[in-house]
Amino acid sequence: MTTAAVVLAAGRGIRFNSELPKVLHEAAGRPLLGWVLRALPNVDRVVVVVGHGSPAVRAVAAEWGPDEVVVVEQAQQRGTGHALRLAADALDGIDTVLVVPGDTPLLDEPLLAGLLDRHASSGAAVTLLTATPADPTGYGRIRRDEGGNIVGIVEHRDADVAELAIREVNTSVYAFQIGPLRTALERLTTHNEQGEEYLTDVVGALVSAGVHAVQAPAEVADGVNDRVQLAAMAALLRRRILHDLMVAGVTVVDPATTYVDAGVRIDADVVLLPGTHLQGGTQVASGAVIGPDSRLVDTVVERDAQISYSVLLDARVGAGASVGPFAYLRQGVRLAAGAKVGTFVEVKNSTVGEGSKVPHLSYIGDASIGKGANIGAATVTANWDGYDKHRTVIGDGARIGSDTMLVAPVAVGDGAYTGAGSVITSDVPPGALAVERAQQRIVEGYAERRRRRHET
Ligand code: UD1
Ligand code: CA
Repeated sequence: MTTAAVVLAAGRGIRFNSELPKVLHEAAGRPLLGWVLRALPNVDRVVVVVGHGSPAVRAVAAEWGPDEVVVVEQAQQRGTGHALRLAADALDGIDTVLVVPGDTPLLDEPLLAGLLDRHASSGAAVTLLTATPADPTGYGRIRRDEGGNIVGIVEHRDADVAELAIREVNTSVYAFQIGPLRTALERLTTHNEQGEEYLTDVVGALVSAGVHAVQAPAEVADGVNDRVQLAAMAALLRRRILHDLMVAGVTVVDPATTYVDAGVRIDADVVLLPGTHLQGGTQVASGAVIGPDSRLVDTVVERDAQISYSVLLDARVGAGASVGPFAYLRQGVRLAAGAKVGTFVEVKNSTVGEGSKVPHLSYIGDASIGKGANIGAATVTANWDGYDKHRTVIGDGARIGSDTMLVAPVAVGDGAYTGAGSVITSDVPPGALAVERAQQRIVEGYAERRRRRHET
């Protein structure tokens, strides 16, 4: 027995009013199509039908699907039945076909594998996954006879009043035997309200060959047909992600304001405070505390680090390091163990060595800071001359005085000092002090003389 999964992802999603194809809209950090591809059980072949915005949909299929994903073009979207008819050309040598819509992200592997098992044991020509949501509006309704046998599916738009009262709906997930499926696909018509080839009509055509149904939990049917449903779906997926994290040992103080994308990895005994957003490939190790109000994208946080009220993009925060409140770390920042980046500090493309501190009001760009250095408040690396970026190198144990301007390219040696308020334009040797400012002058009695001048 060979099995293929066919994912229908060619539609535009008219109700989204979007340039972007519907299946590429994201929920909880993953495109809708990505969710569906990740839910597929292990099968011999995966076929994705693309059409609207196909180059971008192909790219997502390649990113989230298996290595050997087969892509079929449906240049004109003439309906779900038409889409599967085109896919059938890519199903040579396949016995069983699992069909899944690209806009149903709550599906999961056990459910789909279970459907395939039931299909194999029942011997039916088609086994459908149905659900009974509280509100069946918009879905195809499952028509059964008095004996409870399925006799067909009627689309919402084509249903009469009695059919609209049916609450059991089609989830658009089916398992077919290939032979009867091919025959039924060839006979599809477009006699319906939308003038499309409906895959649902295949079910009616296969009644005599045997139709079986498997009931899914009510919410599994939830397709995403507009941005209102997208937001509701994202909320649901997010709750599911947070639930799994909490069960696995992550403390989520306020799930209602915590946003963790599907691809994020968090160890046990991490604490997520309210207003935390963890996105992309972010990873957080045990003992770390993130938040409140922080956003981390593609960032790695090592053990026991602390991050509060900060934004970190593609950064790496070493064990026990601390960031914020109110710091901004962007592209390629590496903080070693025990480093500190404090309040109102921006760091870009720089390394901060073990135990080094940048506590207040600084801009550190294109710099390498050694171990145990202290960068005084309001230090700025002047890294851009208007044309090129230049590097600043600060040695181990260096003491940069408050309000130092480091005009790159420039190096401050190990253990060297800079005087507060200095503009450093040439290298400072190890252990030296560089001061660049005028001698302080005292003008005695100045205030008194000034007052008299104004009063006479
Ligand atoms: C479909 C079902 C409906 C079911 C619902 C469940 C049909 C006719 N109707 O309706 O019974 O209750 O799903 O969510 O099948 N697609 C293509 N090519 C096309 C048209 C659609 O690839 O020509 C793809 C879409 O990209 C989408 C999927 O098929 O991923 C379903 O299409 P959609 O238009 O969302 O169908 P529904 O109206 O939701
Ligand atoms: Ca749909």
